[in-house]
Amino acid sequence: MTGCTVAIDGPAAAGKGTISKAVARHFGFAHLDTGLLYRAVGAKVLGGASPEAAARALNPDDLENDALRTPAVAQAASEVAAIPAVRQALLEFQRAFAGRDGGAVLDGRDIGTVICPEADAKLFVTASAVVRAKRRFAELSEKGISVTYEQVLADVEARDARDMGRADAPLRPADDAVEIDTSQMSIEDAIAAAVAVIEAKRGGV
Ligand code: CDP
Ligand code: CDP
Repeated sequence: MTGCTVAIDGPAAAGKGTISKAVARHFGFAHLDTGLLYRAVGAKVLGGASPEAAARALNPDDLENDALRTPAVAQAASEVAAIPAVRQALLEFQRAFAGRDGGAVLDGRDIGTVICPEADAKLFVTASAVVRAKRRFAELSEKGISVTYEQVLADVEARDARDMGRADAPLRPADDAVEIDTSQMSIEDAIAAAVAVIEAKRGGV
């Protein structure tokens, strides 16, 4: 299978990243977790930077950092993500990544709607807020990040509301996205469903 752009969007902790990594491995595509861009800007803002300056100065080396996983940084990310100048500053990097030879998978909130409206395959991955919060809580606890389940659920619900309600690039499925609800699915089944959708789209080109 030759190069292809795959857009994977959905709410917090739906399984986008896990599915994206597996899909990228399966097809030999590069993967960009675009949430990390907003998390890196959010972390800099918590450290006193201005959102727009932080977005303009963002360096890909800033993305490999476990400190970006905390609910406090996630909230800050969601706040800066509502600022149009921040989204604009991050747009070009994402589009350049998406256009690389050999294929790319990008996951986030607006990949299918704004960043890559011409993507070859678009997936919208969802699950109930309770299921997502339980999964994220287990993941953070395993990494030794100290949080309560209640904090994680509150973070997920607050971000969902902000991400869906903002004026610029709100979280919503693209008209041509295929929805995968992973509430009752194992991660293996969710990956298999995503691979099948992409193969079908590619086969139909
Ligand atoms: O990228 P996103 O925030 O959408 O989610 P993720 O980080 O890929 O997934 C959150 C957690 O849920 C991870 O620990 C996944 O392994 C887990 N997960 C799961 O257990 N079953 C699924 N069907 C999807 C995700
Ligand atoms: O991993 P999780 O799904 O919990 O969040 P994330 O993908 O790391 O995204 C963190 C925050 O960045 C989201 O709550 C959004 O506000 C924002 N974001 C966005 O606005 N657009 C994207 N393409 C990706 C993330």
